[in-house]
Amino acid sequence: MNSIVAMLTDKYKEIFSTDKELRAFFSPGRVNLIGEHTDYNGGHVFPSSITQGTYGIAKKREDREIHCYSMNFEEGGVIVFNLDDLSFVESDSWANFVKGMLKYLIEAGHSIDSGFNVLIYGNIPNGAGLSSSASLELLIGVIAENLFNLTLDRLDLIKIGQKTENQFMGVNSGIMDQFAIGMGSKDMAIFLNTNTLDYELVPAEFGDNVILIMNTNKRRELADSKYNQRRSECEEALRRLQTELAINSLGEMTEESFEVNRSLINDEVLERRAKHAVYENVRTLLAKDVLTKGKLKEFGELLNQSHISLRDDYEVTGLELDTLVEAAWQQAGVLGARMTGAGMGGCAIALVNSEKVEEVKAAVQAAYKEKIGYAADFYVAQIGDGAKELV
Ligand code: GLA
Repeated sequence: MNSIVAMLTDKYKEIFSTDKELRAFFSPGRVNLIGEHTDYNGGHVFPSSITQGTYGIAKKREDREIHCYSMNFEEGGVIVFNLDDLSFVESDSWANFVKGMLKYLIEAGHSIDSGFNVLIYGNIPNGAGLSSSASLELLIGVIAENLFNLTLDRLDLIKIGQKTENQFMGVNSGIMDQFAIGMGSKDMAIFLNTNTLDYELVPAEFGDNVILIMNTNKRRELADSKYNQRRSECEEALRRLQTELAINSLGEMTEESFEVNRSLINDEVLERRAKHAVYENVRTLLAKDVLTKGKLKEFGELLNQSHISLRDDYEVTGLELDTLVEAAWQQAGVLGARMTGAGMGGCAIALVNSEKVEEVKAAVQAAYKEKIGYAADFYVAQIGDGAKELV
């Protein structure tokens, strides 16, 4: 048995007084290689699921109660609710993700005929931009799917995860995170067209290089409201373009058509937001192409351009992310670096020559501490499978 599962089984016994008939589940976090803030603009994304994520140990109950315990929020104790009342309750904090998933699974016609106990432990830092929330959503999804033998299409589960985030939690996010976590596969990146939901698994082969995750350790305070604001800004820019153009999303535009028509937007800020969405989508198409051909230098350069656009046009980086990324750009052995996820704190990634990782970490850490006053964290990303039962 995996040592984390063994540790969680002991904890489950301590909390729920049994270690019989337990089932173990895992749902990853994700890094997005490129294609940021494109998923709600009908563009492409290019994420991978990682081996860090959220574990769950679960067992059905005889009654209709759900008892949840998270080792990441032990002060909250066991949170209890009933299948007959799946309404959002502020004080239930993280357990609202569990409620939302169950509510929408039931509404979609799936039969969840009893409660269950679940013990949860995540080793992705919360709020670090590695999708701890989508990881929890899909974890609950696969637990319900397996405990209750649901016939559930993976794409439907992914959409229920997104619905939980959008409608239950109030964050108007796109589908990238749930898709990456639901469809992830070891050593693969997912090239997804968020308009059609067509996707392709592409080998995440980085030659002599690794993806180094660099965590600012800055929580994304107020991030959710800024996220929703960016989304509305893009919608408004699209609406103005649509006065003359027959398009359904910014993701349909080429750089050329954007340049010819940008004056229709007639607002300097909105133009920059839309420019990011259009150009980032084009970069994502190129990035998939060059990665497939093993052109890692070009791939790294696209990562850099992505960060610059998110910094200057989309304005979702901030001092901490910029400090990490700009310090990484200075180091020998770094092919490219950019923020990943929603931004405004959280994590950045760098494509780094394996032999230079320790030197890069030390140099970036020194620059970060000097400017920001506290330490960043670093982990080499390993690309693992999507959400599943562990057997
Ligand atoms: C968050 C959202 C995603 C996506 C990214 C930005 O992670 O959950 O849907 O929009 O931000 O690319």
